[in-house]
Amino acid sequence: MANNIIRLGVNIDHVATIRNARGGLHPDPVKAALLAVDAGADGITAHLREDRRHISDQDIDRLMAELTVPLNLEMAATEEMLNIALSHKPASACIVPEKREELTTEGGLDVVGGYDHLSSFVQRLREAGISVSLFIDPDEAQIRASKEIGADKVELHTGCYVEKTGAAQAGELDRLRRGAELCESLDMEVHAGHGLTYDTVIPMAEIPQFTEFNIGHFLIGEAIFIGLEVSIQKMKGLMEQGRASCG
Ligand code: PXP
Repeated sequence: MANNIIRLGVNIDHVATIRNARGGLHPDPVKAALLAVDAGADGITAHLREDRRHISDQDIDRLMAELTVPLNLEMAATEEMLNIALSHKPASACIVPEKREELTTEGGLDVVGGYDHLSSFVQRLREAGISVSLFIDPDEAQIRASKEIGADKVELHTGCYVEKTGAAQAGELDRLRRGAELCESLDMEVHAGHGLTYDTVIPMAEIPQFTEFNIGHFLIGEAIFIGLEVSIQKMKGLMEQGRASCG
C-alpha cells in the first residue's frame, strides 16, 4: 500500500517555551499555529505537560476555538489529561510517556508493560470520538501491543535515528522502515516524529508507509533565521520531494 499522502503536523510547544521564559503573552503559540496553517501545516500538535512548562490549559482552549485544521493533543496517560481531552475532544490524542525531570520526551511508551492501563485509556478516548495514537519506539512487540489494545495509529519515535550518524543512522532508519511495514501489515496508520530536521526528513519521507510527521523544535529554531512560514514551507517541500522519489 504505497502512499502518496504525507502530512506535516507542526508542534508549537516551543513558541510557548519562549513566551513562558518571561511569563507574559508574547510570542503567542496560537498566533504561531494560525501562521503555520497559512504556511501549509496540515495539523497542529501541542503537548500539555503535567508541569505546564510550555503549553497551558488556556492555549488548548484557544486552539480548539480558533484552529481550522485538526489539533493533535499530546498527553500522558493520566486521569487529569484524560478529563481534559474528553472535555475538549481534539481530533486526535497522542499518548506519550512523561517524566517530570526530562528535558523532552525520552523514549517511547511501554505499551507491553502498561497494557491494561493503556487499553482502558485508549478505549475511553476512542469512545469520545478521539482518534488515538501511541508514541512508541520502532519495536515489534510495542507495535503489536498497540494494535491489540485498539490504537488507531502509532507514532514511531525518531530520536535514535536523528541522534546517530553514518552506518548507525542507516541502521536506525532501517528499524523505522521495518516498523512502518509492520504497521501496514497490521492495517494500522503510522506517523513519526521527534528531532526531525531538513536533513533527516527526506529519507523518512522516502518510506511510503508514513502518512504524517510531527515536527516542532527544529522548525521553531529555524524560524529565528528565516521566519516560521518559510521554515514550514521548506520542510513541506523536502517531505514532498522525498515522497515523490519513492514513486
Ligand atoms: N512527536 C511527539 C510524540 C513528541 O513528543 C514530540 C516532542 O514534543 C514531537 C513529535 C516533536 O519533536 P520535535 O520538537 O523534536 O520536532
